[in-house]
Amino acid sequence: MSVTRPIALGIETSCDDTACAVVAGDGRVLSSTVSSQLEAHRPFGGVVPEIASREHLRNWPAVSEAALQEAGVTLGDVDIVAATKGPGLIGSLLVGLSLGKAIAYAQGSRFHAVHHLEGHLFSPFLEATGEKAERPPEEFIGLVVSGGHTALYEVKAGETSTLAETRDDAMGEVFDKVGKRLGLPYPQGPLVDQLAEIGDGERFPLPVALCSDGSLDFSYSGLKSQTLVEIQRLESAGVETYLGETREPEVPRDVVDLLAGFRRAAVGQLVDRLARLLEQRPFRQLAVSGGVAANRLLRPSLEAWAENNDVDLRLVALRYSGDNAAMIAHAALLRDERGLADDPLEADAASRIPL
Ligand code: KG4
Ligand code: ZN
Repeated sequence: MSVTRPIALGIETSCDDTACAVVAGDGRVLSSTVSSQLEAHRPFGGVVPEIASREHLRNWPAVSEAALQEAGVTLGDVDIVAATKGPGLIGSLLVGLSLGKAIAYAQGSRFHAVHHLEGHLFSPFLEATGEKAERPPEEFIGLVVSGGHTALYEVKAGETSTLAETRDDAMGEVFDKVGKRLGLPYPQGPLVDQLAEIGDGERFPLPVALCSDGSLDFSYSGLKSQTLVEIQRLESAGVETYLGETREPEVPRDVVDLLAGFRRAAVGQLVDRLARLLEQRPFRQLAVSGGVAANRLLRPSLEAWAENNDVDLRLVALRYSGDNAAMIAHAALLRDERGLADDPLEADAASRIPL
């Protein structure tokens, strides 16, 4: 198989996954390796920044080696090096960005310091099957739902503007916090989703949060508090809510039903915002990405909504929903086409940066 140039090497270390990928010029993912640090953080119930940075350094040699080998390329074949510049944990970002800068400088390759959300935003166009990526349309609406962000963007001729974002917690963060309250291990989001799957969402009808000023912004802290209050109520009524290692079918019915109600309201908010955005400014193309895009209610709900509203939906492939480096290499290729590049000696990481 001939590989379309340029060949991009992606590096993503914004949080607790050490990821490296090789993506060809046509967006074909030649390899995408993600090394999870879950075991290192699990005893603490969440990510410990200091541990994450050290784990990135430790994991990098094996992760990059595996990505290059699977892609069948060497560093000498790489035309573009791309690394996440932020937002994220500063120590973690610095490890990946410094590695990328050093490799680009040493190899004389073009360098791109990529915004993490730009990676997510264009990730729905990557094909999980190893085929070349679909070209992003000139104009589309992007919904990014992750552990750190819940936001709607408008992408037009490569330029991105923010239409709405969360005023408090991100959707994934709230899934994690509710799960943590039940004693579930990190990351709690997928486990809460799994338990909600067997619950009855109608028994605890939690409301979909609206912003009083009519804006399209998201808000998840109210839903989180309401869910925590309901958990407290169940406890007062004698229901065992500490799950620890307990999994379905042993989890009490009340708990799974509450989680189903919580998930329904959380996903309902996304559908509400999309519906109101469509009313305000009609759009045809929607791309949905981020770790929470793996959610088992979100996927069919958005698919049904898009079909009913004649919207062409690109839902990120499960393989690229969570943090990965293929999305960073892919975003860099799109930037590179537009003649953008960064100076590897100048690029810097930041824990918070606007898109
Ligand atoms: O995009 P991502 O990997 O990292 C960030 O950039 O934040 O997203 C991770 C988030 C975590 O909060 C995780 O619990 C959540 O995505 N998540 C889920 C599911 N899978 C991952 N939340 C709900 N349902 C899921 N199936
Ligand atoms: Zn992310």
